[in-house]
Amino acid sequence: FNVPVAKNEPINSYAPGTKERASLQAAIAEARSKQIDVPMYINGEEVRTDKKVPMSPPHDHQHILGYFSEGDASHVQASIDAALAAKKDWAAMSWENRASIFLKAAELIAGPYRDKINAATMLGQSKNAFQAEIDSACEIVDFLRFNVQYMTEIYKQQPDSAAGIWNRVEQRPLEGFVFALTPFNFTAIAGNLPTAPAMMGNTVVWKPAYTQIYSANVLMEVFNEAGVPPGVINLFYVDGPTAGDIIFKHKDFGGIHFTGSTAVFQHIWKTIGENIYNYRSYPRIVGETGGKDFIMVHESAKAKQVATAITRGAFEFQGQKCSAASRAYIPSNLWEDVKKYVQEDLKTFKMGGTEDFSNFINAVIDEKAFDRIAKYIDEAKASDKVEVIAGGNHDKSKGYFVEPTVLLTTDPKYTTMCEEIFGPVITIYVYEPNDYEATLKLVDETSPYALTGAIFSQDRYALEVAVKALEQSAGNFYINDKPTGAVVGQQPFGGARGSGTNDKAGSMINLLRWVSPRLIKETF
Ligand code: SER
Repeated sequence: FNVPVAKNEPINSYAPGTKERASLQAAIAEARSKQIDVPMYINGEEVRTDKKVPMSPPHDHQHILGYFSEGDASHVQASIDAALAAKKDWAAMSWENRASIFLKAAELIAGPYRDKINAATMLGQSKNAFQAEIDSACEIVDFLRFNVQYMTEIYKQQPDSAAGIWNRVEQRPLEGFVFALTPFNFTAIAGNLPTAPAMMGNTVVWKPAYTQIYSANVLMEVFNEAGVPPGVINLFYVDGPTAGDIIFKHKDFGGIHFTGSTAVFQHIWKTIGENIYNYRSYPRIVGETGGKDFIMVHESAKAKQVATAITRGAFEFQGQKCSAASRAYIPSNLWEDVKKYVQEDLKTFKMGGTEDFSNFINAVIDEKAFDRIAKYIDEAKASDKVEVIAGGNHDKSKGYFVEPTVLLTTDPKYTTMCEEIFGPVITIYVYEPNDYEATLKLVDETSPYALTGAIFSQDRYALEVAVKALEQSAGNFYINDKPTGAVVGQQPFGGARGSGTNDKAGSMINLLRWVSPRLIKETF
């Protein structure tokens, strides 16, 4: 079981004057100079249709990067058929050979495809260079390397045997096929959701968010070059209801690996329940969904550290992270300082297209997201319970730009304290230090989610109280750090309650969901 020991891929800074920066800028210019014709990939074949849908940078929506071919029910069916046909050989392949394919995919992304996939994420999803590097280069490489290591651990674990008896476990892939339904906000998540089940011997049908197809196409090129055989990962672009209607009614549906909204996940769960008599086995349902992630601050905390956690935790990638800080509870003794530091820091955040590397804030993903976020901001501006501390403007004339917005509310249950906005908006509630324990209770009770959260305190007793009081409030809990930026191999990621099944992306827990063990006992 000697696989290469997984190491986190080092992050390039793309600082001015570096050769990495020049090379990434050239990849961006090259991508902008042409229009590509993106196919679906079914059974190893490129499939194109007459229904061409344009793809544009969210920060420059009149520019066309290319078109993808939208499919229909027949392409969903063809993907399932291909996955089922490929299953026997793929499941029978030695795990070493499966591991090799995904280790090669990791090295392709870390090396020759790095610029291409970063450029695709920067243009297609409007991430700045550093955030694209963390996501579409390093995190996907880390997922692949660490999952290969976890996979070997899983195959290695065996029960005890007594004299005359041999107990052994065979880690069979699930029966049927696995459906990967992936979001726009992390290219790494889009890469992880199909590959984790595939690694464990499953075959997969994969439907990405339409707003991530531009970079999903690069991932698929990598998988093909790495040697993923035809039919093992099938990528199609078909609307959700059409795809769901075929997939969830199929008797060979074996499981879903999902990241997306809570509402969609709940609908899927219900649909699976309604079809439960159709399936051979109970399908595995693995999902990471919404969040309303908090920063809770004790009176002993350092104001500057809290301010940095707010600006970085709330506004990196325009707050379009399920982990993004979106509500903060600040004691009144620290508020004026925190406010000053937040306002000062935000003055240094330049907003604009990703092609200019000095822009930190880029556009939100599409018009629908822009309109939703703008509505929250405009309602807050009109409310007598809210004061705008920073930002508050938005403009979609060239791109879907929303200023990083900090709201202060007198009502701890105000809408933007409770609902997931998925944009660059954080709401702050200032409490009296004597109300620390009551405020911890408020943090726990205000939202239905439990994904990430942070506590800031220099007082160990206060920390102890918070760690206990917030035990169920977050699956990833940070002490004196922002609640975002989990690193694969270091902070396995996921939450419970309305935030998902907490199967921790990038962990052995997750990979174990994609196998169905057979215990064999033999006596001699
Ligand atoms: N893993 C990301 C983070 O921790 C969110 O998906 O920020």
